[in-house]
Amino acid sequence: MLFVILFQTYAFMNLSSSLLNWYKINKRELPWRDTGNPYQIWLSEIILQQTRIDQGVGYFQRIYQRFPDIRSLASASEDEVLSLWQGLGYYSRARNLHHTAKIISADYEGVFPSDYHELKKLKGIGSYTAAAIASIAFNIPVAAIDGNVSRVISRLFAIETPIDITSTRKIIESLADEILDTRQPGDFNQAMMDLGSMICKPTNPLCDQCPLFDFCLARAKKIEHLLPVKSKKIKQRKRYLHFFLLTYMQNDTQFLFVEKRKDNDIWKNLYQLPLAETDSPEIPEQLPLPKEAISLLKSKGFHPEIAGKPATYKHQLSHQILEASFYKIILPQEYCFIFEQYFKKVSLEEFENMGKPVLISRYIAGHITGLSETNQ
Ligand code: ADE
Repeated sequence: MLFVILFQTYAFMNLSSSLLNWYKINKRELPWRDTGNPYQIWLSEIILQQTRIDQGVGYFQRIYQRFPDIRSLASASEDEVLSLWQGLGYYSRARNLHHTAKIISADYEGVFPSDYHELKKLKGIGSYTAAAIASIAFNIPVAAIDGNVSRVISRLFAIETPIDITSTRKIIESLADEILDTRQPGDFNQAMMDLGSMICKPTNPLCDQCPLFDFCLARAKKIEHLLPVKSKKIKQRKRYLHFFLLTYMQNDTQFLFVEKRKDNDIWKNLYQLPLAETDSPEIPEQLPLPKEAISLLKSKGFHPEIAGKPATYKHQLSHQILEASFYKIILPQEYCFIFEQYFKKVSLEEFENMGKPVLISRYIAGHITGLSETNQ
């Protein structure tokens, strides 16, 4: 037994030095790397949960330039944070980022906690992010396991059970802890991540360039292309969103009505055009207004007419497929007071600077060029 343990420790030390030597030469140059700055590392990790490294670097630089420390982020308005996040999607991450900046400023005197469990108490920081911050910024020996690292471990140890079930996850966690180099946990974790994205790719892994070639059981069994095994297909929810561009001209300025999203749903606190959500792509029979407003409009002889062809866009989120249709309705100015009771009136220029879903930005950019009733 002692022999087995000694042999395993020796093998894992060799594995670590092969990996770290490879990392020294091949690691990607990233602006937050080697800074040891927990704020930068946290910010980069949250951004990288939403996008690939090449696009993430641009977002990191823009957000970091505007908020160079936790206190400047904490004192920003949520609208500004959401507006800098525009295009990354999944806006609850941006809201959690802002919330956590405020908590660290107020309750931790602006100093990031270094303890893994303390980090996990903060909103938006789960096991992976806590381990990444603790190990990279504070040299705490905890394994950071993201999708890339799971794949590397599943191949390294030829794990043939599905990686998305709890029992396999636990096996992967304990193997990740065993192979972690506790003297350089930050570099080791980042080397595993880089290896996963640069060499041990999901399809066509570059085994002949892999520093762990001699240690890899999947390669020895020639099953690397079959791993990792996944069990479930994520169920996609289909949603039909009908947006109404209710608009009119006043003194050469185009106005429209907008609303702020409130519910615990996608795009919380972003601005949108008045929306009706249904179970089908058919246009709803009524405008998204309460019954009394509809009756009032009818009694005044107003019947909404759609100007031009509706525009439709499909948008894929991680668990949802959105089909968004846009209908333009030109309002006679005399009825606007009714809409003002339920929506916010803004000029087109004001709306362009408000945080809004990418889908709506696309529609505005492609379709709003004035109030002509011809097809646009
Ligand atoms: N993906 C997410 N965080 C990363 C990091 N620190 N290094 C490499 N890839 C990453």
